[in-house]
Amino acid sequence: MLAVAILAAGKGTRMKSDLPKVLQPLAGATLVERVLRSCSHLGPQRQLLIVGHQAERVRSSLADHAGLEFVLQEPQNGTGHAVQQLLEPLAGFSGELLVLNGDVPLLRPETLEQLLERHRASGAAVTLLTARLADPSGYGRVFADDAGNVSAIVEHRDCSAEQRANTLTNAGIYCFNWQKLAAVLPQLRTDNDQGELYLTDTVAMLRPAVHLEVADPGETNGINDRLQLAQCEALLQQRLREHWMREGVSFIDPASCTLSDDTHFGRDVVVEPQCHFRGSTTVGAGCHIGPGCLIEESTLAAGVRVLHSVLSGATVAEGCSVGPFAQLRNGTELGPECRIGNFVEVKNSRLESGVKANHLSYLGDADVGSGVNVGAGTITANYDGVRKHRTVIGAGSKTGANSVLVAPIQLGEGVTVAAGSTLTQDVPSGSLAFGRARQQVKADWKGPAA
Ligand code: UD1
Ligand code: CA
Repeated sequence: MLAVAILAAGKGTRMKSDLPKVLQPLAGATLVERVLRSCSHLGPQRQLLIVGHQAERVRSSLADHAGLEFVLQEPQNGTGHAVQQLLEPLAGFSGELLVLNGDVPLLRPETLEQLLERHRASGAAVTLLTARLADPSGYGRVFADDAGNVSAIVEHRDCSAEQRANTLTNAGIYCFNWQKLAAVLPQLRTDNDQGELYLTDTVAMLRPAVHLEVADPGETNGINDRLQLAQCEALLQQRLREHWMREGVSFIDPASCTLSDDTHFGRDVVVEPQCHFRGSTTVGAGCHIGPGCLIEESTLAAGVRVLHSVLSGATVAEGCSVGPFAQLRNGTELGPECRIGNFVEVKNSRLESGVKANHLSYLGDADVGSGVNVGAGTITANYDGVRKHRTVIGAGSKTGANSVLVAPIQLGEGVTVAAGSTLTQDVPSGSLAFGRARQQVKADWKGPAA
C-alpha cells in the first residue's frame, strides 16, 4: 500500500506574495499541480494534501482533482507538525508514505519510482532523496556514510560552519515506513532556530535510514523566493524546448521562447524569436511561427504562417496566413487558406476557406462564406449596447473599404458592398448594395466669401 502526502500548508514568507506559495504558477501550472503530476503515475491508494495557510484557496484550486484528501494543519508549526496531522487520517494504514514538499516542482516521475524501488529493496525505515549541490545554501544538510546510511539532517540555519561545508542536501522528498514514522512523530521537539517541529528530525530517530542521490540535481530545486521561481521556470522551459527540438522543431532563438506542458508541435515547425505558447496549444507540421507571437489555447493545422500576432482560443486550418499584427480571439475558426492581415481582429467567427481580410478590420460574431474578400476597414457592428448579434456574409461576396455591417444582418452569396457603406438591412445574393450619401460636386467652387 502506498500513500502520498504533499506538504502545502506553509505561507511561503520569502515569496512576499498574497498568493500561497504552492499556487504560484510555473510554465502554466501551479507548483502543487506539478508536484501532484510527478507522483500520479505511482498509483497511490491515498493522496493527502496538507493545507493551512489560505487553505480554502488551495483547496478550491484543486477541486477537480479526484481522490485528493485535504488535511488541515492549523497553526503551521513546521514540516514535522504538518506530517503529525496524518496520524489521524492514516490511523490503521500500513505501507509506505511518500512525503513530497509542495514547493519542489521539477521532480521527474522516474526519480520517484527509483526512490520507491530503493526503499522497498533496502527495507529501510526511511529512504530520502538527496542532491549534491554546488551552492547548498538554504537546504538541510544530510550526513551519511559511504554506504548511504544517513545519521541525521541538519537545517542550514542550525548548521555549524563546518557542517555547512557539506554539499549533500535534503530534497524534501522521503519514503517512510508509515508505522515506524507514526511511532516517532510524537517525539519531535522544537529545539531549533525556528522553534518548529521538523520532519527532518525523524530521520535520526529511524533506523535504517538511507538516501538516494539524484542524478540531475536540478530536479530537486526547492522554491522559496521569486529568484528560485524564475530559475525553475528557466529550467523547465529549457527542458520543454529541448524535448521539442529533439522531435523536429527548429527554434531560431530558443531562449527567447516559452512553452507550456500542453504545447504540441508537428515536425518541421520553425519558431522564430520571441514566441510564446500557452495552455493547450497544438501547432501542426511545417508551421512557421513568429517572430513575436503569443498563441494560447489554440489549434493550428499544418503549414500555417503566423507573424507578430496574438491568438487565443482560435482554430486555424491548413495553409492560413495570420498577421503581421492580427488578433484572433476566442471562438475564431479559420477554414483552409484564409489570409488575415495587419490590424485585423476576429472574434467568435467562422471564416470558410480562402477568406481574405487583409487590412484594418473587425469581424465579431460573423459567419463568412468561402472566398469572401473583406475590404480594408470593414467592421461588423455586432453590439447594440445590450446584446451581440450575428453577421452572415455569403460565399464569394466582397465588402468595399470602410463598410459597416450593422448586425443582425445577412448578405447573400456574391454580394458586392460599395465602399463606405453602412448597411442595416439584408442583401440578396448577386446584388450590389450602397449605403452612403451620394457624392455631390459643386463646380467652380470659390470657397467662402472673404
Ligand atoms: C525543507 C527541509 C530542508 C530541505 C528543503 C528542500 C524541513 C525542516 N526542512 O526546508 O531540509 O532541504 O525543504 O526544499 O523540512 N509546510 C507545511 N507546514 C508547515 C511548514 C511547511 O505544510 O508548517 C510545507 C510548505 O508549504 C512547503 C514545505 O512544507 O511546501 C517545505 O517548507 P519550507 O518552509 O519551504 O521548508 P524549507 O525551509 O525549504
Ligand atoms: Ca522550501
